[in-house]
Amino acid sequence: MAMMHLMQPLQGAPDALMVCDNLVKIYKVDDLEVVALQGLDLEVRRGEMVALVGASGSGKSTLLNVIGGLDAPSAGRCYVSGNDLTRMNEEQRTLYRCFEVGHIWQQSGRNLLPELTLHENVMLPQALGGVPARLRARRASELLTQVGLGHMQRKKPYQLSGGEQQRGGIAVALANNPALLLADEPTGELDSVTAGEVFALLRQLNTSLGLTMLIVTHDAAIAGLADRTIAIRDGRTSTETVRRDAPLAPGMAGGASAVIGLSSETHRESVLIDRVGRLQLPHEAIERIAFNGRAEVRIEDDHVELWPAETSNGANDTNGANSHDVPTVDGTIQQNNQDSQQSRNNQEERA
Ligand SMILES: Nc1ncnc2c1ncn2[C@@H]1O[C@H](COP(=O)(O)OP(=O)(O)O)[C@@H](O)[C@H]1O
Ligand SMILES: [Mg+2]
Repeated sequence: MAMMHLMQPLQGAPDALMVCDNLVKIYKVDDLEVVALQGLDLEVRRGEMVALVGASGSGKSTLLNVIGGLDAPSAGRCYVSGNDLTRMNEEQRTLYRCFEVGHIWQQSGRNLLPELTLHENVMLPQALGGVPARLRARRASELLTQVGLGHMQRKKPYQLSGGEQQRGGIAVALANNPALLLADEPTGELDSVTAGEVFALLRQLNTSLGLTMLIVTHDAAIAGLADRTIAIRDGRTSTETVRRDAPLAPGMAGGASAVIGLSSETHRESVLIDRVGRLQLPHEAIERIAFNGRAEVRIEDDHVELWPAETSNGANDTNGANSHDVPTVDGTIQQNNQDSQQSRNNQEERA
């Protein structure tokens, strides 16, 4: 919507629809702070279908809530379709939620109002946008036909199967023609066949409407159908997996990707490196190699090697940070370790 553009130039690549730059979200619970997003970078191009995967608690829903305008970011930047989410007031955020993004939730009860028919459910968001009643009704019918529910428009949610409810939820999310569709485990409560069908519908809408989508899923098979799959770990983007244009010949690939587990014959997984050089090593790497929190970096002509760092006495440092606790290869963390060592020394001196 033109009125929602806040005169901010779109950041990132020219065809970027969404850009998160060093995004931070902190939840305060009593006196405790939970850092759910810890400087997350992500760019989604116009027309892309991107899957988000990651362990429970890694920050996937938080990210979708921030991008969807339900939660304000604590720091960093987030732009969606020219809107600067860090600088919106509540009124602008409400308009943004209504017109710029569509949301699909795992629980169909959150997608559809139970007392309304499917047709009424799809008309409702349009009413908020001031669309005349006759146009609303026509668009609702068209959308429901598009998601394969043209014959069920007068049914109420309880009369529908789980898959049909999610299709209805998709129609509601599309009612105001959003620039970006956000889906948080939309197939999480469905059996695998129905999940595949709902995902195929999303894929088809992505292709036919050119609709940009960001979909959280725990299902690697479903993630594998997206254009790109981003893995989130500890509130940061960790790896990116892209489908290969042509599958590698059998035997050329080395099994499955390290993080997401898709076949490396069909997919290529890369570790993401941010502007200041931070990256997350795969769990397997830190389990197999005893880095103990530090690595020696050897820069070769066309690649970089990480070797377990030797300490001054020649043995691996066992006093340092535990590699299982610190999976990030990160100058800052080493600095922090030194800081905490320093403060411990100071305390000892004072004692
Ligand atoms: N509203 C909230 N208040 C406090 N902590 C929250 C809130 N939402 C999420 N968190 C915390 O933020 C972290 C990320 O959660 P979430 O984004 O829901 O992860 P995911 O969707 O990947 O499972 C978790 O530690 C979670 O407990
Ligand atoms: Mg979640």
